[in-house]
Amino acid sequence: MATLKLGVLISGRGTNLQALIDRCAEQSFPAEIAVVISNRGDAAGLARAAEAGIATEVIPHGDYDGRAAFDAEVGRALERHGVGLVCLAGFMRLLGTEFVDCWRDRLINIHPSLLPAFKGLDTHARALEAGVRFTGCTVHFVRAEMDVGPILVQAAVPVRPGDTEDTLAARVLAAEHRAYPSAVRLIAEGRVRVVDERVEIDGARAPEPTALNPRDD
Ligand code: GRF
Repeated sequence: MATLKLGVLISGRGTNLQALIDRCAEQSFPAEIAVVISNRGDAAGLARAAEAGIATEVIPHGDYDGRAAFDAEVGRALERHGVGLVCLAGFMRLLGTEFVDCWRDRLINIHPSLLPAFKGLDTHARALEAGVRFTGCTVHFVRAEMDVGPILVQAAVPVRPGDTEDTLAARVLAAEHRAYPSAVRLIAEGRVRVVDERVEIDGARAPEPTALNPRDD
């Protein structure tokens, strides 16, 4: 099977990008990163890409007259690099409807909550405030509405007594680094279909049922 070419869009530190770089470096992994695009020249993730010998492009959103022009430039860069799947990894710009429709079902995002709970920012603070016993992360196909779209992979992590925003964020981030490459792999292996806005995955197996939090022993 030909390897799937990824375009990874970032705005910041790029730890999810790093997780993808690390998995793509494994010989049996069916995807490779063709280009990393950032809307910010100071994104730390750019150095991670350069270190791995991956092409980078900086497309500063402020240089463009409106969202459509910026999106179009991003689209041209992705096409130039022959990208087949776009991965948003901490990309802090909303992409317009035209771009999202053009890349429909070839555009995924990772979000640090169990969607549809806690869309938007400050997910960990809001999870603590709500008193949920589990939170986690979601990899989903992107639709025009923010943090909405068919769900590919979720990872659940427990909220522990004494958790702060930082401890919870670290636990979820470690789960993100497993979930994102896993979702990419399922797509690259051709096992994923979107049917009626839900994701069907060939040969998907669920984990053992029911984790209680807290335990009562
Ligand atoms: C992650 O928490 C991701 O879920 C969210 O933005 C953050 C990006 O972190 N969309 P990093 O740049 O990958 O370290």
